[in-house]
Amino acid sequence: MSHNVCVYPGSFDPVTKGHMDIITRAAKLFPEVVVAVLINPAKAGSFTVEKRLNMLRKACAHLENVRVDHFDGLLVDYMHKTGAKVVVRGLRAVSDFENEFQMAQVNHQMAPDVETLFMMTSPECAYLSSSVVREIARFDGDISDFVPPCILEDVKNTLTGNNQ
Ligand code: COA
Repeated sequence: MSHNVCVYPGSFDPVTKGHMDIITRAAKLFPEVVVAVLINPAKAGSFTVEKRLNMLRKACAHLENVRVDHFDGLLVDYMHKTGAKVVVRGLRAVSDFENEFQMAQVNHQMAPDVETLFMMTSPECAYLSSSVVREIARFDGDISDFVPPCILEDVKNTLTGNNQ
């Protein structure tokens, strides 16, 4: 891997249209995009890592230069292991800035060879988050505006307990 590859890391619990906005735009800028799901033992999540990976693979199937992977431990270690040099993150609102700024600084301190690039989330996705999707789906609300159509049933079934 090289400068041609960017890594878009996150929890993706589950992937939303907001994430897809960033992935699709990154795929136009980089020859290869790796969407990397963090396996975080401290944060179990509502979906198993397998389910998150499957949903991401379905949602990204039409994007030829997008690959889905997973990692544990430090993001910079994953970057060094794979040789990728660019991390892409989306910024939705001012409230994202502080966390993202801290993460980018810490990562830069540990790995000056890795660059973090920020993309502004499209306005129509600015209010979206995975927890909003989870909450609405749990109460059987309509999430069709918020998640890619191909994973709609997966999300609903898992969160309403039809497919545990
Ligand atoms: N559109 C919609 N929602 C978005 C979004 C977008 N463009 N970007 C982020 N979000 C939402 C997510 O859905 C998630 O919502 P939730 O909190 O309601 O579930 C929230 O923003 C944060 O999600 P995510 O982007 O997955 O970030 P994260 O904080 O879970 O994970 C990592 C960030 C994985 C990059 C970071 O934790 C990491 O690198 N960890 C590895 C350990 C490490 O290296 N630490 C050192 C760095 S400090």
